[in-house]
Amino acid sequence: MSDMAPPKGTFDIIPFCPNAEDIWKSTYQWNHIESIIRQITTEYGYHEIRTPIFERTELFHKTTGETTDIVTKEMYTFQDKGNRSMTLRPEGTPCVMRAFLDNQLQQLASVHKFFYLAPMFRYERPQAGRYRQHHQFGVEVIGNGTPEQDVEVIDLLYSFHQRIGIQNIQLCINSLGTPDCRAQFRNALRGYLKDHFAQLSRDSQTRFENNPLRILDSKDLGDQELLKNAPLLSEFLSSDAKNHFAQVCDLLGELNISYKIEPKLVRGLDYYNHTVFEVMVENIGAQSSIGGGGRYDGMLKSMGGPDLPTVGFGTGLERLLRTLLLQGTMENTRQVPFVTIIPLGNSALKYGMRLSKELRQKGVPISIELGQRKAKAAMKIADQIGSQFVCVIGDQELEQEKLEIKNMGTGDTHPLSLIHVEKEIVNLYNAYIAKGTKNAI
Ligand code: HAM
Repeated sequence: MSDMAPPKGTFDIIPFCPNAEDIWKSTYQWNHIESIIRQITTEYGYHEIRTPIFERTELFHKTTGETTDIVTKEMYTFQDKGNRSMTLRPEGTPCVMRAFLDNQLQQLASVHKFFYLAPMFRYERPQAGRYRQHHQFGVEVIGNGTPEQDVEVIDLLYSFHQRIGIQNIQLCINSLGTPDCRAQFRNALRGYLKDHFAQLSRDSQTRFENNPLRILDSKDLGDQELLKNAPLLSEFLSSDAKNHFAQVCDLLGELNISYKIEPKLVRGLDYYNHTVFEVMVENIGAQSSIGGGGRYDGMLKSMGGPDLPTVGFGTGLERLLRTLLLQGTMENTRQVPFVTIIPLGNSALKYGMRLSKELRQKGVPISIELGQRKAKAAMKIADQIGSQFVCVIGDQELEQEKLEIKNMGTGDTHPLSLIHVEKEIVNLYNAYIAKGTKNAI
């Protein structure tokens, strides 16, 4: 161990993790989930966007919101050498909007569908499932304000979670209506809570002035009790907002996506309106929310851009991978060599290196013993690295033009003729892939 631990709330993603509870930090698991993200976003027609890891601080003040936890407490903000205030991106949504405007993408199409896969930084108190650097898969759609667009976004998130193998998914949805509906509700909620101000938790007392809707999110049991008789947001929705939400619910049913309407769901960011949603799973510790998002029409306009509707989600890879591990549904994605070639002696080494190169060029993952170890020691290493087969090559094998390949799982051996060795190994490998056992150990 070095005496330089990584910063609190961060961790390394490494190929092999010595502790079973850390397997979700294996590069192979990350590569696997990232490849599913690329596949599913292609299927849904979303295009990748990459923005800088830091932005001007005012971007988040203007968009994420002055009263949010992110902006008030959690941003990694620093002065650069030019004395400008910069912030490590705490969330992707404002960055994508900024990039959209800066690159004048509105000229290119009427609807834009973006996805990103990127690290985010929030100075939060680290605990299970909560990190100071986390990675999000997010999507943002610009230019379509219909309920069906909300449903496509929710469906993409839901299908992605299902495809990677998450169990017991619970989708909670709500409508926040238009800013007008919310303003009326805010007044009514304030009116109700005013009489109970002294009983509110300290956090909620602060929110009472700045952002009373966030009180609905409160985990405090006393607050929750008080809220039981509070007015409901749904009572303040305009008929258009009600219609929009009813269509979202109807279409979710059409796609067999089960959901629960959660009247108190507001989400922790200031910019949402109409549909908001959150995906929860049970039993993953303190942080049971694995993804969330909603509609945030108005953000582009508030940034000086066109008044285009916008909707999206973010889902955290750390929480997804931990959930898969806790639910026992994590696949074995470790990449292993198909054959380890063990040359004994100089001529075998030259032959083995040539053969390895040719097989690798044909796409077969090969490991070759390069430490001139004895057969037994080299076999042990082949076993440790999970090699499917080994092929020991000595002078005798070369003279007799006959090789043998041994299945490390079953102990069975197959004879190979030296002239056809390359073709035979390629065929064997293709048969393994066809059976879907490429990565099996
Ligand atoms: P968010 O709910 O703040 O939304 O974050 C989205 C997801 O990121 C969470 O559900 C969680 O899985 C993960 N996450 C957030 N903070 C942490 C953390 N400290 N450690 C580990 N995982 C974390 C947004 O960020 C919005 N930009 C989503 C969105 C996109 N809304 C519209 N478009």
